[in-house]
Amino acid sequence: MIHVENLSKVYKNNNNEKIYALNSINLEINKGEIFGIIGLSGAGKSTLIRCLNRLEEPTTGKVIMDNIEVTKLNKNDLRKKRKEIGMIFQHFNLLSSKTVYENIAFPLELEKLSKDEIDKRVNTLLKYVELEDKKHAYPSQLSGGQKQRVAIARALANNPKILLSDEGTSALDPKTTKSILELLCKIRDEFGLTIVLITHQMEVIKDICDRVAIIEDGKIIEENTVKEIFANPKTKTLQEFIRLEVI
Ligand SMILES: Nc1ncnc2c1ncn2[C@@H]1O[C@H](COP(=O)(O)OP(=O)(O)OP(=O)(O)O)[C@@H](O)[C@H]1O
Ligand SMILES: [Mg+2]
Repeated sequence: MIHVENLSKVYKNNNNEKIYALNSINLEINKGEIFGIIGLSGAGKSTLIRCLNRLEEPTTGKVIMDNIEVTKLNKNDLRKKRKEIGMIFQHFNLLSSKTVYENIAFPLELEKLSKDEIDKRVNTLLKYVELEDKKHAYPSQLSGGQKQRVAIARALANNPKILLSDEGTSALDPKTTKSILELLCKIRDEFGLTIVLITHQMEVIKDICDRVAIIEDGKIIEENTVKEIFANPKTKTLQEFIRLEVI
């Protein structure tokens, strides 16, 4: 479903020095899988997930989704491809001047759907994320969990095939995190979405991921099924992540 080949990203800092944020990443993510990427701050997690939909342009390497080489697409084709890729963020990224309804309607308006079509779709999504009663509220009037539900509904508006989550539960308390993770599981089970989920919490990996990759200094240092990772962690970094989880 998602094939990443020799993906590298080099940034330049203010002194024109090179920062190797990603260093030859290779990944194979299957359809319908919830794939976790875990690593410490600065490891390259956000850079990696943002390179998948080219919010960040990779310096070298390939990203192939559903047999389409995303890294080769021109602007127009990339815009179309991005409709198949929903994304959620740690800080929700909702439009503060728009209501819940308007936030979810926004990507549909960009698609020039009719008012009736938009209304139908937004109401279905509101029901799905259990926020019908907050339809006319503004983001500032919502809890973190509710905001993330709106963001998830908006990400699902165009019926994507892939959902990318960059620390989607990091700003939430444990109970709210659980409810959002349950929602993500439900989305995968009901719509067959492929979910790529970035986190620095091993608990998130344990709760919903099928497989996981550990990234350190821009490299994947370990990758396996979640079951195997917990039973037999090989790298020090992973052992430390699991140890912290146990405490
Ligand atoms: N726009 C940028 N310009 C220069 N360097 C950058 C830029 N974005 C990221 N970096 C650097 O690339 C490396 C990877 O950053 P990235 O944001 O991908 O890490 P992360 O794993 O998501 O960290 P966190 O857990 O803190 O979100 C870091 O050294 C960071 O300072
Ligand atoms: Mg990040």
